[in-house]
Amino acid sequence: MMKKIQLLSLIMVAVIFISCNQATKNKEMVKKDVFGTQDGKEVYLLTLTNKPGNVIRLTNYGAKIYWIEVPDKNGKKDNITFGYDTFDETLKGDKYFGSIVGRFANRIANAKFTLDGVVYNTPANDGPNTLHGGPLGWHSVLWNTEVLRDSKFPAVKFTYVSPDMEEGFPGTVNASVTYTWNDNNEIVMDYVCTTDKKTVINVTNHAYFNLHGAGNGDILDHVVTLKASAFTPVDSVMIPTGEIRKVEGTPFDFNTPHAIGERIGEKYDQLILGKGYDHNYILDNKEEVDVTVYEPVSGRMLEVITDQPGMQLYSGNFLDGTQIGHGGKVFKYRSGMCLESGHYPDSPNHSDFPTTVLNPGETLKSTTIYRFSVK
Ligand code: BGC
Repeated sequence: MMKKIQLLSLIMVAVIFISCNQATKNKEMVKKDVFGTQDGKEVYLLTLTNKPGNVIRLTNYGAKIYWIEVPDKNGKKDNITFGYDTFDETLKGDKYFGSIVGRFANRIANAKFTLDGVVYNTPANDGPNTLHGGPLGWHSVLWNTEVLRDSKFPAVKFTYVSPDMEEGFPGTVNASVTYTWNDNNEIVMDYVCTTDKKTVINVTNHAYFNLHGAGNGDILDHVVTLKASAFTPVDSVMIPTGEIRKVEGTPFDFNTPHAIGERIGEKYDQLILGKGYDHNYILDNKEEVDVTVYEPVSGRMLEVITDQPGMQLYSGNFLDGTQIGHGGKVFKYRSGMCLESGHYPDSPNHSDFPTTVLNPGETLKSTTIYRFSVK
């Protein structure tokens, strides 16, 4: 009898020890440091380390991904995304590196849209248009930070309450994005939004990638496979004309692998208007992986998986070398590319595009994954 009790106590002690140890491990998987202050509030830099020992860094300023350190085919690790070393540089630098973009990613034509007969004016910050939710959009606000200690993998949830009429958009919106860095080297981004008034939402992540390592040359040799049969051509101010154009037979066809630089210089109307690739693809959404990017020198591969209908392929055409990021790296012309999952640009002004309207009582839920590996 005595022996049984002793055995039971021993088992209980072991269980308590294992669960305490797990909690300590979870704590170590996410390190929270102060990055700076804004309006008297602390800005954090969060370091997430997964079991294979790979590291990503996030900040709650703009809910940005600031660092993704993954191995090449020889096991050499390097950071492959754009960001800055200090908060001060962040405030002065490019607004969109790694940012969560909202309320409306990409452009809204002539900075206005109509909902139920009411015209809403949003700030024009890109010629006549509104770009990425306006100058004070979600990329520039401080999100609340919650480290998800009970998660199996390192995970951080950022939440933000966007006030009614912020940057001209109706409704108070409760937004959250949870980043999980799992042991398969996937950044899983789970978005959730609700509103108290009818509104429009298009949320994305604007990370720039260079699989050679951020600041190491350009992305023209990155080989892209993008599962989309059509895209939305734009006019001279980058607004979709409404045409849905088949990619077949054009330099926009990435259904079979092509290097970004292979056809980017062709005298094709949309490459001229976009100054390269800066277009929304209409995803086929038939296979698990929507986009694959392979860089042959390092062997690094990025796969993007999304439940969204569109994907903006942007070849860094407006990068001009004026931005100096991590460790003094210079982000030159076409030295980074973005794959922005979401809805089509200017959807609120195109009734035939998939709707971006969010009603009270509805919950917008969406997931996009960046998966890193080597080949
Ligand atoms: C747009 C580009 C824009 C860039 C700004 C991209 O999402 O498509 O036109 O210049 O964001 O960082």
